[in-house]
Amino acid sequence: MGLKPENVPQLTLNNGMKIPCIGLGTFGSDRVSAADVATAVGGAIRCGYRLIDCAACYGNEKEIGEVFHAAFEEGVVKREDMFIMTKVWNDMHRRVEESCDKSIADLQCDYLDILFIHWPFPNYHAPGCDVDSRNPDSKPFSVAEFMDTYRQIEALVRKGKVRAIGISNLTIPKLEQVVDKFEIKPVLCETELHPCFQQQELFDYLVAHEIQPVGFMPLGSPRRPERDIVATDIEDMKMPELVAIAKAHNVHPATICLKWAIQRGQLPIPFSVHNYEGNLECTVTEPLTDEEMATIATLERDNRLVKGQVFLWPGANDWHDLWDEDGFIVDCPDAK
Ligand SMILES: NC(=O)c1ccc[n+]([C@@H]2O[C@H](COP(=O)([O-])OP(=O)(O)OC[C@H]3O[C@@H](n4cnc5c(N)ncnc54)[C@H](OP(=O)(O)O)[C@@H]3O)[C@@H](O)[C@H]2O)c1
Repeated sequence: MGLKPENVPQLTLNNGMKIPCIGLGTFGSDRVSAADVATAVGGAIRCGYRLIDCAACYGNEKEIGEVFHAAFEEGVVKREDMFIMTKVWNDMHRRVEESCDKSIADLQCDYLDILFIHWPFPNYHAPGCDVDSRNPDSKPFSVAEFMDTYRQIEALVRKGKVRAIGISNLTIPKLEQVVDKFEIKPVLCETELHPCFQQQELFDYLVAHEIQPVGFMPLGSPRRPERDIVATDIEDMKMPELVAIAKAHNVHPATICLKWAIQRGQLPIPFSVHNYEGNLECTVTEPLTDEEMATIATLERDNRLVKGQVFLWPGANDWHDLWDEDGFIVDCPDAK
């Protein structure tokens, strides 16, 4: 089964690139081994996925690279028909080319389709550390620092190592500071988007600026790392309205989350080692009705799951300071 890649609906980005309307996430959430994630990537390519969302900090690019290599060698897919995205981690903002070169080597992919700045802060924390850990060297967002990192990716586009640029975990106040400084416009912005966290204002802002929203944690990340779960978090897929719509379509609530995402206009990147085939197929089955879309629009609960506590700098209050909720960038040294 699966889908022929040419039958998967496509989106056209602001630089003319066409890309599938769904991709596969690869963050194992400390629960799924690098080998198992790589096996899923191999299976996903064989059932029709062409967009894979990687990141240097997920610790599995080498294993995924083996799988890409085998798929290219066996003629399952040509390199130019894949969209391989990865991200620069926070400790490499001053060494973006080195990070890019390492990802290209690990992923065995010759060039990157899209390179993202994973977080707009240079703040490093050890993988898997507790949410209460703080790096004393952490700093608030700086326009100059962010643009320096961005300029390094622009240079990699000009060199041909990267085809297009992605940004991630931004807010409207931060975007307002940088949006007219880009020499090469970003094509994608990865941001947390699921039925109980719709970020409507940010979504509209991105669309208005022709930056395609990519929704991470599109299912509400039911198996995210234990350290990221707090008692007040809501389980999107258990919302009664969503469950009722799933029942009416005789599908899992996950399918409804993905259909909603695609019909709303964001590009979901669900992680899956067991259900990726069905997740791809649901892009072409019966769409949600306008009424169902309107019902899901009412499920917004401000249910931010990635709070980002570990990126806080000395003197910051709490994780809300990362998200500019009062309309300005907290502690920014150089915002205009
Ligand atoms: N830019 C960023 O800062 C950022 C942050 C977070 C995440 N991301 C990206 O977004 C991706 C997705 O986020 P996520 O992995 O946290 O959460 P998610 O995609 O919302 O949820 C993944 C979970 O849902 C399950 N699932 C998938 N399809 C299903 C289906 N049809 N039925 C039932 N269960 C299903 C998976 O289990 P099975 O494996 O058993 O199918 C897995 O446990 C990540 O992998 C990563 O690539 C980016």
